[in-house]
Amino acid sequence: MQPTRRPLIAGNWKMYKTIPEALEFVRAFKSLVVAATHCDILIAPPFTAIKAVADRVEGSNIAVGAQDVAAEAGPGAFTGEVSAAMIKDAGARYAIIGHSERRQYYGETDKSVNRKIRAADGEGLLPIVCVGEPLEDRDAGRAEEFVDRQLAEGLRNLTVEEAARIIIAYEPIWAIGTGRTATPETAGQMHAFIRSRIREMFGEKVAEDLRILYGGSVKPANIAALMNEADIDGALVGGASLEAETFGRLVNYKENR
Ligand code: 13P
Repeated sequence: MQPTRRPLIAGNWKMYKTIPEALEFVRAFKSLVVAATHCDILIAPPFTAIKAVADRVEGSNIAVGAQDVAAEAGPGAFTGEVSAAMIKDAGARYAIIGHSERRQYYGETDKSVNRKIRAADGEGLLPIVCVGEPLEDRDAGRAEEFVDRQLAEGLRNLTVEEAARIIIAYEPIWAIGTGRTATPETAGQMHAFIRSRIREMFGEKVAEDLRILYGGSVKPANIAALMNEADIDGALVGGASLEAETFGRLVNYKENR
């Protein structure tokens, strides 16, 4: 049976853009993707710009997400944290969880990833769960083993229903912001591995419907080849999502081949 996974092209703005800068992007970007019906489109601005961006894209084909979410449901005394309920209230529908930069610089662990998935899902936000190996593990032939552990711990004890609502982003750390994209074959192999593990954990239906995004130096020039891979269902884009014209070309990868 041919799976009917709808591609998702997502931009992770990281710590870029003030509110005026974000709105200027949206103004230019909206018209560039207005005719794009082949994929879902997502922008994840910094927390401060979520509400302004969400208001501005309302009724369009552009959705908004957060780059992180508190593990606690709250409300409560958790200084500096932003709850899933607050994120949803601001107009976001997705939450990126466990990005390698959060793991590397802010002590995010597979345990906290697991809690954050539940917190996001509990409020009806769609979790985009990031996994991906460092260069040492890739070079030592341990990439699958590394990602396997992240999946086993990060998705531990999720119900089949919860698992059916997540999205996974495979972002090899060595490809993020380096210009060194994984080849479509390398990425495609890891995506197939991830899907096979999800099949073992949650069954055939969840695995076949699961969207697995690739992230790491995705550009207008390489997106089409990546999207040709059977198990690549979209992209999580950093640098190339910051400029409306570039991200517009990326979203419209089908026409630009
Ligand atoms: P780049 O596209 O800048 O490599 O970043 C990828 C990423 O981390 C997206 O979450």
